[in-house]
Amino acid sequence: MFIPFRRRINTQFPRALASSTADWPDGIVVLANRAPVRHEDGTKKTIRTVRSASGLVTALEPLIERKGGVWVAHGAGAADKRAVDSRDGVRVPAGKPRYRLRYVWLDDATHRGYYFGFANEGLWPLCHDVNVTPQFRDDDFAMYHAANEQFAAAVADEARGRHPLVLVQDYHFALAPRMIRRTMPASPILTFWHIPWPRPRTLRACPWAFELLDGLLASDVIGVQTDEDRFNFLACIESFVDAQVDYTMHTVRYRDHRTAVRVCPVGVDPANHAARSAPPVHVCRAMLRRDLSVADHALVGIGIDRLDYTKGIQQKFLAVERLLERHPDLPGRFVFLQVAEPSRDCLPAYQQAREEIVATRDRVNARFGTATYQPIHLREHHHDAADVYALYRAADFCFVGSLHDGMNLVAKEFVAARTDEQGVLVLSETAGAAHQLRAALLVNPRAIDQSANALAQAIAMSTAEQMKRMRLLRANVTTYDARWWAEHLVTETLGMCRHRQTAGTTHLGQLPSGQQVIWSLGH
Ligand code: G6P
Repeated sequence: MFIPFRRRINTQFPRALASSTADWPDGIVVLANRAPVRHEDGTKKTIRTVRSASGLVTALEPLIERKGGVWVAHGAGAADKRAVDSRDGVRVPAGKPRYRLRYVWLDDATHRGYYFGFANEGLWPLCHDVNVTPQFRDDDFAMYHAANEQFAAAVADEARGRHPLVLVQDYHFALAPRMIRRTMPASPILTFWHIPWPRPRTLRACPWAFELLDGLLASDVIGVQTDEDRFNFLACIESFVDAQVDYTMHTVRYRDHRTAVRVCPVGVDPANHAARSAPPVHVCRAMLRRDLSVADHALVGIGIDRLDYTKGIQQKFLAVERLLERHPDLPGRFVFLQVAEPSRDCLPAYQQAREEIVATRDRVNARFGTATYQPIHLREHHHDAADVYALYRAADFCFVGSLHDGMNLVAKEFVAARTDEQGVLVLSETAGAAHQLRAALLVNPRAIDQSANALAQAIAMSTAEQMKRMRLLRANVTTYDARWWAEHLVTETLGMCRHRQTAGTTHLGQLPSGQQVIWSLGH
């Protein structure tokens, strides 16, 4: 079965920016759980600085550097406390400091309840909706609330200028926008939700659905990845909150405040450091094949994920198995290399996912492997950005099989890395990236036969067809890059804020009668 180009959706975004942060006189504060830099113990009592490979850092750093802003994040590095000044901050990047990083220290119980509990055992499975039951415990929510208070206080403490712009990131901080609004009533607040937004029926499983929405609606702009996320978000507002929803303008009026909900897919930086220092494609190809102990002309597919049950790694292995069953000429000259970086591995759902993945790898390798050849290689350790970039360039195809994903930046990074306009992207249609990357081979990751067909098509694809598809993909990824994402959202937020100033509305309006914020009473 040939997989043709699919209908284009969700790709109509303005390319040019009407205005930007240049005309915003005050500072910028970013709030994100993961720090762009952490400190670890080095040899002989030295401190080692480790940069995060996260796409968020690439997207926000240029902005925060330009304005000399502050990044507020959890201090999770073993040596973070040794590296900070008297106000728990450090200037970064080391050697050429351009902005301030402020750490927030969480005690173990708070971190467990906030991060592992409510955020990652509650909201993460709730929003991805992939057959892992969300756990909602009162204690976890109390810790989530307490942690949001702590981070919001750090944001207020770092605020400089009259009304600094606050950029809140992701599901760790649904309550923080309202807490920040209390201390910074006139500041523009942008909150970006990186993961999928669930339907009302799904959100109902969360006992604190109203509190989350009430917290988020203190933002001027809430950014989401896809049209579907926005539709679900507005539908949830209608179901849980006594607010006016305008489906044409995509705005919500609530507690005398207007919030715009904007679709703005996060992008990557095609000219990042790894890209600038990467070896040529033929060198990357030869290095990888040597590393895998296969012939120079062997076919290699790759997958790069955190080890997470939402990423569909198990289904990818099953598709590889089906491919090998159907193509007896492939064993011996085809390898699938899966990088699965350990993640949240103290949680039972992650341990179970790992057991399944390892067992499937072992079974497929026993079936099709020999003493010297294994069709599936699973690498369970952190790979730095340069190593991942070299893998992208070395592969014949990249398989992104998420069962559900807000965006998936691996798909975009792979495309950005293929300056040779070769290589095939096999992409789950349930990843947010599939709304833009229509020239990929799009698959339903649960349909194993269909995925196996797509892998066969990727392997057999002519150079001309690869180039045709890759050019379309690259045009999208380079136009809607990380910088476009950040600038576009900030422009929207400043626009909303100016409108608010003109309209003279207040920001701490009363809750509509009959509704109450439970966390302020009980927790
Ligand atoms: C997802 C989230 C990000 C998060 C990342 C890594 O992509 O949307 O906010 O940073 O996963 O997860 P971790 O729990 O390691 O920060």
